[in-house]
Amino acid sequence: MSSKKVNGFVVLLGGLLGLVAVVLGAAYASTSSKLNRHIVVPHALLTATPPTPELVAQGKAIANAEGCMHCHTDNLSGKYQLETGILGNIYSTNLTPGGPKRSVADWALAVRHGLRPDGTALIGMPSQAYVDMSDDDLGAIIAYMNSLPPVTKAIPARKLNVIGNLMIGAGIAQIAGVEMKHDVPPIRLQPGVSVERGKYRSKLCTICHASDFGGLPPGFAGAAGPNLSKSGEPGTWTEADFVRTIRTGVNPVGHTLNKMVMPWDTFRDFSDDDLKSIWAYIQTMPPSRRGAMGIDPSLVKDTTPKKKV
Ligand code: HEC
Ligand code: HEC
Repeated sequence: MSSKKVNGFVVLLGGLLGLVAVVLGAAYASTSSKLNRHIVVPHALLTATPPTPELVAQGKAIANAEGCMHCHTDNLSGKYQLETGILGNIYSTNLTPGGPKRSVADWALAVRHGLRPDGTALIGMPSQAYVDMSDDDLGAIIAYMNSLPPVTKAIPARKLNVIGNLMIGAGIAQIAGVEMKHDVPPIRLQPGVSVERGKYRSKLCTICHASDFGGLPPGFAGAAGPNLSKSGEPGTWTEADFVRTIRTGVNPVGHTLNKMVMPWDTFRDFSDDDLKSIWAYIQTMPPSRRGAMGIDPSLVKDTTPKKKV
């Protein structure tokens, strides 16, 4: 290698390292600026039905279905979401009465908007999914949380190191509060059974059964569910069959649904109105052409060996 070439290489390498430093610096600055932002949400959106003891059971059912216990633990006292010396630590908050006191508006800010009372963003709280949560649901969730045995424990303050900051910039945890829209009002639902209520309640189901309830094949985004539309097995069911299946986990032909892939135990405490509404909403869907397992024929490759000519 001639010295000219070496010099050229050194210059190139220097340039690349400089570029990497600029990119990393920008990623770091971007996460920091996201976490330092104070976002103001109109007070009119921070409402909830007054949390009274009659709402406790409904609140438990909703919290369970919405996955609050998944991250905040079964007794809702919180746990480490991320605990490593290099990255820093993030702890899901203690939501029992032993934890920090919060007003209804504070609850609404955290749950619907992913923000702390001062308007800075929470990390890892999936608020995009909750932004239109009804006042009734939020009031019921608060009632349930307030009814829990208080757990008092020291919660370590959130701490992010440089690498944690960069990893978050690279997408390992969401900062919903700065990434989502904050102008969506809570959904207003009429009491009783309705297709509108069914559409709202079944948002979670569509992750695995698809938005048209025609099902998703195994391997698609890691979650697969069968076709629930009229061309699927439940096409011949009655509303009562459907409600019984979700409540007991056993379908009309006696098949016990596998909790590991179909979390019916987190949905079984929905009210009758909620379950009937989900059924009513599914009935508005056209029969899917994707077969019982939700496999789209146009995506299935023809693997029959071709004859040689
Ligand atoms: C995917 C995990 C996850 C789920 C699901 C989840 N949370 Fe959180 N939540 C978190 C984490 C992590 C924090 C703390 C984030 C931080 O400190 O930046 C948090 C914080 C909170 C806070 C505290 C806000 C504050 O001011 O300190 C409340 C209130 C809250 N969550 C309520 C709920 C409710 C209610 C549900 C269910 C509807 C829920 N969360 C579902 C992960 C989750
Ligand atoms: C995480 C993925 C997932 C979610 C979320 C999910 N399902 Fe399922 N569902 C499945 C899978 C997988 C099966 C098949 C389970 C089995 O056969 O053991 C299934 C089966 C069913 C069945 C039985 C179908 C039959 O032919 O017996 C019904 C009914 C059903 N789901 C309704 C729902 C409803 C309603 C929701 C939302 C409240 C929902 N599912 C949410 C994955 C899911």
